[in-house]
Amino acid sequence: IFPVITIDGPSGVGKGTLSRRLAKILGWNLLDSGVIYRVLALAALENKIDINREEKVAVLAEEIQISFINRKNNFFVSFNGKEIKKDIYTETIGNYASKIAVFSKVRKNLLTYQRTFCQCPGLVADGRDMGTVVFPNAELKIFLYASFEERERRRLHQLQKKNFGVNFKFLFSQIRERDVRDYNRQSAPLTPAIDSLILDSTHLSAEEVKSKVLMYIRE
Ligand code: CDP
Repeated sequence: IFPVITIDGPSGVGKGTLSRRLAKILGWNLLDSGVIYRVLALAALENKIDINREEKVAVLAEEIQISFINRKNNFFVSFNGKEIKKDIYTETIGNYASKIAVFSKVRKNLLTYQRTFCQCPGLVADGRDMGTVVFPNAELKIFLYASFEERERRRLHQLQKKNFGVNFKFLFSQIRERDVRDYNRQSAPLTPAIDSLILDSTHLSAEEVKSKVLMYIRE
């Protein structure tokens, strides 16, 4: 049995940055569960599946083969044998991912994939329900929080770095919509696990957040 650390929190809070840095420092495997929902959204689009049809998307969720490749501690994703790059990180795919993440059958059908994901020699799991649903027995659970405005600023910065064109008004409504869906869905709504540490990162740099979490790990 290998140790698992879960990092949950809302859209744009910096879970991805934190999880990647922790996985690198610890030399552990990384499960970016948001990628699974994004790849599923992309696959639905490519297969002309209506993303409003829970049953159809759930079938696809059961069949989907995603590989995470760890190359010199950089993580890559491949789907149907093809390496996925920028395609899944657009706001459109993010929006579709958030919509299909509401379906309980879809979430259920993705559980086995997530739970059988390689945890050796340890696993950092990043998402919304890692500590509450997927890995309830994790050694350490972090719930990362930041104010809406700060998350918006971080997301803008991230999209600019990836050279995506961004419209501030659009971004605002996207994050707002995702929050509504994440916090209100019936199946696994976003909420801190009772045994999680809640870390408010609103006034902390990515470096400071990482150092704090490393401190918790070493305690
Ligand atoms: O942070 P952001 O919303 O841009 O995206 P993400 O973490 O890549 O996840 C994409 C979408 O999948 C989110 O909007 C979540 O609603 C959903 N998701 C989820 O429901 N459960 C997870 N464990 C991970 C992501």
